[in-house]
Amino acid sequence: MTATLFSAIGELVTNDPALGDGSALGIVRDAALVAEDGRVVWVGSADEAPAADERVDLGGRAVVPGFVDSHTHLVFAGERSAEFAARMAGEPYTGGGIMTTVAATRAASDATLRANARRLHAEMTASGTTTIEAKSGYGLTVDDERRLLSISRELTAETTFLGAHVVPAESAADRAGYVALVCGAMLDACAPHARWIDVFCDVGAFGEDEARAVLAAGAAAGLLPRLHGNQLARGPGVRLAVELGAASVDHCNHLTEDDVEALASSATVATLLPGADFSTRAPYADARRLLDAGATVALATDCNPGSSYVTSMPLVIALAVREMRMTPGEALWAATAGGAAALRRDDVGRLGPGARADLAALDAPSYVHLAYRPGAPLVADVFTGGRTAVTDKE
Ligand code: NIG
Ligand code: FE
Repeated sequence: MTATLFSAIGELVTNDPALGDGSALGIVRDAALVAEDGRVVWVGSADEAPAADERVDLGGRAVVPGFVDSHTHLVFAGERSAEFAARMAGEPYTGGGIMTTVAATRAASDATLRANARRLHAEMTASGTTTIEAKSGYGLTVDDERRLLSISRELTAETTFLGAHVVPAESAADRAGYVALVCGAMLDACAPHARWIDVFCDVGAFGEDEARAVLAAGAAAGLLPRLHGNQLARGPGVRLAVELGAASVDHCNHLTEDDVEALASSATVATLLPGADFSTRAPYADARRLLDAGATVALATDCNPGSSYVTSMPLVIALAVREMRMTPGEALWAATAGGAAALRRDDVGRLGPGARADLAALDAPSYVHLAYRPGAPLVADVFTGGRTAVTDKE
């Protein structure tokens, strides 16, 4: 086994409060890190670094855990720039455009879908993301949902079956029939390729009883629940997610006091998606209210061609700090450890001993620059499992 010493780290964010400055970010200055067999085996002051077989000199850069993007719709075809332009000219976002992407996706070959997904995945990796979740939801037939998940699985183990994204146009007259299909033949075809099950529980999508039925069927097939909820209006999403012990409820733009309290007293993570709020010109989710109440908050891109064609976690962090009043430290934690919590993972989103050696080195002296220098390409080097990550788009 080869041990690699990452040396000359000006500021190392470990997310391990037992290390470094004692803050939640566990910051070690003038640090070094040793990786072996894909894992972190040692973290500490550069002066005390042990010998290793190889050395990577990081030149005084800040190093953060690779971002954990716990909410993406990675596999699809086509784009919706005209819809975006219409929104910026005053049209509201409704979710109605989902069927445009469904039509393009159904018509696309596996090779096209795979090439699109790989290009976006490379873009994410180049901007420092080392763990992604990927949902289906643009197929909405048994075979299309299955193939979206099987292509997703080529890129990540964190795959989510979202057959209950919307009721497709051809089933508009038979909602119950579509929900039965999602809970039956579609779930049977998709479960072998998925870890999670998701449902869009909101106005214009699925109601409480439908969402409950979908998540219960998923659980019976061995899938773990997560939910899109409270994006477009107040509603039952958050309550249902907490009741079912979902790992995460995502969007959370419209919350009652009871929703906030329920999240604060549960292990369900509130995943906020400022890229979607930015791209739909919606009011930003109230991160401050959730954090001050004690809820666990994650940040993710929601990468999709409709509401958030965003692959950059640094952009998400900058938006969360500027628009949601998160501190730079809270935002970085939410984009790393928070995302890991939303995926129920303890091996990513941190850089203490035992964690995967997934790290991003920034062309900056401090992680604060992620929010302080929005738009600058600060991510200089990305390592997954201690090795240089592939960011090639081909
Ligand atoms: O998370 N809210 C539901 N689904 C996606 C949007 C999908 C689309 O508009 O294509 C979201 O924002
Ligand atoms: Fe989404």
